[in-house]
Amino acid sequence: MTNTLRLGIAGLGTVGTGLLDIVTKHSASLAVRAGTPIEVTEVTARDRDKDRGVDLSGLTWAASPEAMATSENVDVFVELMGGDGEPAKSSVEAALRAGKHVVTANKALLAMHGNELARLAEENEVALNFEAAVAGGIPIVKTIRESATANQISRVYGIMNGTCNFIMTKMRNEARDFADVLAEAQALGYAEADPTFDIGGFDAAHKLAILTSLAFGREIDFSAIYVEGIEHIALDDIKAADNLGFKIKLLGVAVETEDGIEQRVHPTLVPKGSNIAEVEGVFNAVGLEGDSVGELILEGAGAGAGPTASAVMADIIDIARGNVVHPLGLPVSMLKPYKRARMRAHEGGYYIALELFDRPGEVAAVAQHMANQNISLASIMQHTSDTVEKGAKRETAPFILITHDTMESDVRTALDEIENGGHLASKPRVIRIERF
Ligand SMILES: NC(=O)c1ccc[n+]([C@@H]2O[C@H](COP(=O)([O-])OP(=O)(O)OC[C@H]3O[C@@H](n4cnc5c(N)ncnc54)[C@H](OP(=O)(O)O)[C@@H]3O)[C@@H](O)[C@H]2O)c1
Repeated sequence: MTNTLRLGIAGLGTVGTGLLDIVTKHSASLAVRAGTPIEVTEVTARDRDKDRGVDLSGLTWAASPEAMATSENVDVFVELMGGDGEPAKSSVEAALRAGKHVVTANKALLAMHGNELARLAEENEVALNFEAAVAGGIPIVKTIRESATANQISRVYGIMNGTCNFIMTKMRNEARDFADVLAEAQALGYAEADPTFDIGGFDAAHKLAILTSLAFGREIDFSAIYVEGIEHIALDDIKAADNLGFKIKLLGVAVETEDGIEQRVHPTLVPKGSNIAEVEGVFNAVGLEGDSVGELILEGAGAGAGPTASAVMADIIDIARGNVVHPLGLPVSMLKPYKRARMRAHEGGYYIALELFDRPGEVAAVAQHMANQNISLASIMQHTSDTVEKGAKRETAPFILITHDTMESDVRTALDEIENGGHLASKPRVIRIERF
């Protein structure tokens, strides 16, 4: 390495141009903080002729990400292209093998290949830093890996997808339907034309897979995550939850249980007034519970050029300062295999929305099926749906049940029996409750 730390940036989209902006604007103060000048020497992207609104003169345009990864003019390969396939995977591997430090914001790559990449970084004694991959500008990777390392962590959780939080917040505050708010999110650029990845919970699951490994000293196992998105949440659910003292958020939660570690992403009822319930709009928040530190929660921007590039730059400065740590907190050889706790064994409260036939004895029958599974009900509320005109005669009645803590398998059994008993006019809607 020369005295100057030389960056090669692969990917000049939102985050890549955001990073170039920071390096250009703050070069003097960054050099002081890092203890060495930092400069960009090479860049690359797909389209060389695209106007990106940044000055690329004086920079070498690398023929490909792979070529840049092994260039002798690059000390740190900054991967900002995205995706768990090519060219991100092979260029990161090539950089690590060539003894280059790597900084990436790529959660998909880490979630799918993080164990092997961390091993490669260790073998080559270089850094693999990925702060921006989880919740953008929020420094949760460093918090878990370094600041909270004295703790036994029992739970890590968060709102890790700004698109979903924006939609849930707008639905509640403006009493609008899911499809209507999704269309607005797309128009504002918060949601992709194909929003499945965000609203289906997969983006949050990528981030959770990384956090689980860091928090519990386990190998990353994305395939073990239970994932449920927000696309089935009805405005009626949001209103009913509100009346009962809850908001609905898409949460990622990893928690240690006697059976193993639960990793789950799903819409969740959280108590109004809790820290996590107050995180609104596109904001993200990640919390952890440690035996010594207690509860920590960090809130901030989970995406966007500035916040994400801020996290990427912090990773680069760590390298300049010689602060190179095991990417997943422990040597990969010391990580335990991930042990999955079955979702059916999950214990917690449940919100259950039932459309019952409006006949005598139906509520009592439902209560009996619940009692048969030892499910104790905290409340039963007849809910007035806005989807039926006031005064109209209806043949069904919407009920909301809130259970005390109970086992998920018991809830599923009870609901199967209620459905099979012919009590329901439509499928039940079930949302888990998380205690804070
Ligand atoms: N955007 C955020 O707020 C945010 C937040 C946290 C993490 N991240 C992560 O940061 C990474 C970058 O995200 P982004 O939003 O900046 O993406 P983006 O705006 O879509 O930019 C991607 C860049 O990668 C380049 N690229 C794509 N495929 C390539 C290939 N085959 N060869 C060379 N270059 C290629 C593109 O080139 P062209 O411009 O020529 O098409 C583009 O410059 C992703 O891993 C993402 O998950 C983003």
